[in-house]
Amino acid sequence: MTSIQENFDLSNYNTMGLKALAHFFVEIHSLSELKEALEFSDERSLETLILGGGSNILFVKDFKGLVILNRIKGIQTVSEDEDQITLKIGAGENWHQLVRDCVAKGYGGIENLSLIPGTVGAAPIQNIGAYGVELVDVFVSLEAYDIEQKELKIFTKEESAFGYRDSIFKKELKGKVVITSVTLRLSKNPELNFSYSSLKERLDEKGIQNPALNDVSEAVIEVRQSKLPDPDKIGNTGSFFKNPVISVYQFDELKSAYSELTGYPISERQVKVPAGWLIEQAGWKGKRKGDAGVHSKQALVLVNHGSATGEEIWKLANEIIESIHQKFDIRLIPEVNILGLAH
Ligand code: FAD
Ligand code: EPU
Repeated sequence: MTSIQENFDLSNYNTMGLKALAHFFVEIHSLSELKEALEFSDERSLETLILGGGSNILFVKDFKGLVILNRIKGIQTVSEDEDQITLKIGAGENWHQLVRDCVAKGYGGIENLSLIPGTVGAAPIQNIGAYGVELVDVFVSLEAYDIEQKELKIFTKEESAFGYRDSIFKKELKGKVVITSVTLRLSKNPELNFSYSSLKERLDEKGIQNPALNDVSEAVIEVRQSKLPDPDKIGNTGSFFKNPVISVYQFDELKSAYSELTGYPISERQVKVPAGWLIEQAGWKGKRKGDAGVHSKQALVLVNHGSATGEEIWKLANEIIESIHQKFDIRLIPEVNILGLAH
């Protein structure tokens, strides 16, 4: 195991670029190193945090326990025939690199998830999704180490209880298991999904009517680059809130006041509405409080203009929650994992 470091600065390990300190920090590359790290925290009764790319985390305070940076690598072919390939991928592999490698080999299913930052092991936590596709669509199973029972377990799709930006690993099993590998089934003759409006528009602009796998991946990358801020240039964690789900009744009421409001029906009684639109309507787009701000092109993204603290970003997030509640009677729920709040 690489050595355990003390009072480690996490600035380069969270995409919001927050200067949080980890009391202890270690990078692991294998299951045995993971077990050693967990032993270290067990002996000292430390709180443990598994960190991938730090692209969906907000450190409101310094982390008092042990941060374990997961860099378990490796990709194995589990099975293959003329139509499909099943891959078992180490949790510390980079997600976007995996997507691009698969696209280059002609394996389809995750091209719409191009350019999502972070690791493969974090992808199931919130069932990453974009442009009409979610991880669950290609997911077979995952392996995770149960911290208390000290054993490796397999979780099927059903056991993972995936939902919109949700899974059992974000709820009941939060902090209880460490995902070590994820198994995905990809198609060698993929049916491409490019019906999402901004993706379709981008392909039309490029004059592509019958896109190939790589065309979809590239169009997704271009749409994302035009809307979402690059964390290397300005700190952010993608969408800060989930798109809220409201009743059809409430949606109809809002729609009569705001005819331009769009909604995506998710059942007969419920509609998902764009939080970015709500936040923009409430006047927050491009607003800034010190270095904590709302992105000027996408109001659902909170940004760190330089030296904002986690507390400042969290304060801004709460002001937005309060303002949306007052204006629309809708309570926004953070999508990002908030760390360091008093229990
Ligand atoms: P981290 O931020 O390191 O961790 C996230 C959570 O998962 C933490 O609670 C952590 O403890 C836990 N965790 C991480 N790895 C493991 C593991 N191996 N075992 C157990 N727990 C673990 N998300 C989308 O769904 N769709 C998007 O389109 C999208 N776009 C984004 C765009 C930008 C610019 C940014 C910055 C983020 C975006 N995200 C998006 C959010 C983010 O990329 C995903 O949630 C991603 O899966 C997080 O991966 P990570 O490795 O960085 O996770
Ligand atoms: N909108 C506004 N103002 C804004 C932003 C958006 O009016 O400032 C409107 C848009 O005009 C559009 C609607 O809101 O009508 C939806 O916007 P967009 O297509 O940009 O998607 P989103 O709902 O804001 C979601 C995901 C993203 C994902 C994209 C593409 C959530 C919380 N976010 O964003 O995921 O990439 O769709 O599928 O579901 C993430 O999770 O971090 C993330 C970036």
